[in-house]
Amino acid sequence: MKKIIIAIDGYSSCGKSTMAKQLAKELGYVFIDSGAMYRAITLFFVDNKIDIANEAAIENAISKIALKFVFNKNLGKSEMYLNGVNVEQAIRSMAISNQVSEIAALEKVRTFAVDAQQKMGTEKGIIMDGRDVGTNVFPNAELKIFMTASIAVRTQRRYNELIGKYPHISLEEVKENLEKRDLIDTTRAINPLRKADDASVLDNSNLTREEQLAIAKSWADKAL
Ligand code: C5P
Repeated sequence: MKKIIIAIDGYSSCGKSTMAKQLAKELGYVFIDSGAMYRAITLFFVDNKIDIANEAAIENAISKIALKFVFNKNLGKSEMYLNGVNVEQAIRSMAISNQVSEIAALEKVRTFAVDAQQKMGTEKGIIMDGRDVGTNVFPNAELKIFMTASIAVRTQRRYNELIGKYPHISLEEVKENLEKRDLIDTTRAINPLRKADDASVLDNSNLTREEQLAIAKSWADKAL
């Protein structure tokens, strides 16, 4: 069977990664979470107090970053490594979520991440989720899905994920973070989040995981 690239883009917390992971499992494809790369870069910038107004400092920081996904057999999923250290937990903190979109909007950061992402796609047989995968990373992807869900549904989902780790977090705080990231992601100068003209829209506000997976699988079957 021919191997294809599947690009999944959409707003923050609309279930892209969850669906992409399930679809990758069904198809025997590799799943790549491009957001994890921007989060790991952000972690490096924060830990090293990089001044994002200073172009030379940004360039120097990027030259010191090595990103790698390593498959964890026990968990059955890939984890993000930054300079040889597993940062999978660290990159999911609220502090990183609050700063990632600003760092991800920087031209040098995007060039670095997109180059690495394109290299991962040379063998095809991958599903990548993010914000500019169908429009910029893989404009020739055989299947493009643009996922959306209402802000209320997205806020509740993200809240449910975070409440165990942040018992005092409020729905309002979560909503603010999602709206802030969506605004920066959709209005940045370089490769902003938008639906590719040839992407199929999947609004999962009222769909179960099984229902949305079935829809995506039927689109993939057609594209294969
Ligand atoms: O997917 P996730 O929410 O983990 O992504 C974190 C942030 O990384 C996004 O809010 C966005 O600012 C940035 N991002 C991006 N382009 C991508 C993937 C993520 O700008 N392809």
